[in-house]
Amino acid sequence: MSIDRMAVVGGGTMGNGIAHVFALSGREVIIVDLKQEVLDESLSTIEANLTRQEKKDRISTNEKDAALDRIRTSTDIADGVAEVDLVVEAVSETMDVKASVFQELDEHAPDHAILASNTSSISITALAAETDRPEQIIGMHFFNPVPVMRLVEIVRGLVTSDDIYETVEALAEHLGKTPVEVEDYPGFVSNRILMPMINEAIFCVMEGVASVEDIDTVMKLGMNHPMGPLTLADFIGLDVCLNIMEVLHNELGDDKYRPCPLLRRMVVAGKLGRKTGAGFYDYE
Ligand code: NAI
Repeated sequence: MSIDRMAVVGGGTMGNGIAHVFALSGREVIIVDLKQEVLDESLSTIEANLTRQEKKDRISTNEKDAALDRIRTSTDIADGVAEVDLVVEAVSETMDVKASVFQELDEHAPDHAILASNTSSISITALAAETDRPEQIIGMHFFNPVPVMRLVEIVRGLVTSDDIYETVEALAEHLGKTPVEVEDYPGFVSNRILMPMINEAIFCVMEGVASVEDIDTVMKLGMNHPMGPLTLADFIGLDVCLNIMEVLHNELGDDKYRPCPLLRRMVVAGKLGRKTGAGFYDYE
């Protein structure tokens, strides 16, 4: 099955990056969001990021202009997905919101369309259960920033068909990404391994094992990580880290996934990392 037209639902951080890579690969893209301001901002972010790639000689001016010409926007989900072969959902990470989006997608997207989710932690099988086409539901978990990061976790729900999996895997390769096949278990592979490491680093801060800077230095120089876990936590957002730890803890039922009390306190205090100007480090 060929994927020529696609929609991205949710034009935030991930949505604009996903639209960027699909448009650059030659596909017609529609970005759908609730608010026109988000869509306008999404388009200007894509333009700025394409211009950066052009200045670094990664793409030509023609490629940039053609990619921009292929992107449309809409605040109406029914209209936005009416003629597409694929939808990638990238709305806020809340089951209620995603469940109602999947019901709408099932109602308005063509019968043949594949419905993918970029969720970091919500079950693909649970999203599939909101639709009448569960075998066409799949996870396409991109990483931020999408135009730069090469990995895509392709998540098979319990009943995702082999055909759909193979189509999406080939598509990810065509986008220039490296797909990895993952079964639908909490946190997939990336967050199942990353988040407990970050959580453990926060326990080290709480217990006074070492300073924030020294914990990051140990992981950078000792383990060759490009960024320390606390710097990374600030970058991801501490609220997002807490949310994913809670999903792992609740769904796997093992106390080794209990969120660190210091992480909870920082989230309550509104110290969420870069986006609020303070987390483990100060960004003011
Ligand atoms: P974001 O908050 O930047 O963007 C979410 C967008 O969804 C907002 O613009 C919001 O207006 C829109 N939205 C909410 N409800 C909607 C609806 N019913 N219809 C249309 N649009 C709606 O969030 P972000 O960071 O882009 O995350 C999106 C998804 O990607 C989440 O599932 C998240 O877990 C996942 N993800 C995020 C990563 C990150 O580093 N930020 C990395 C990988 C996955």
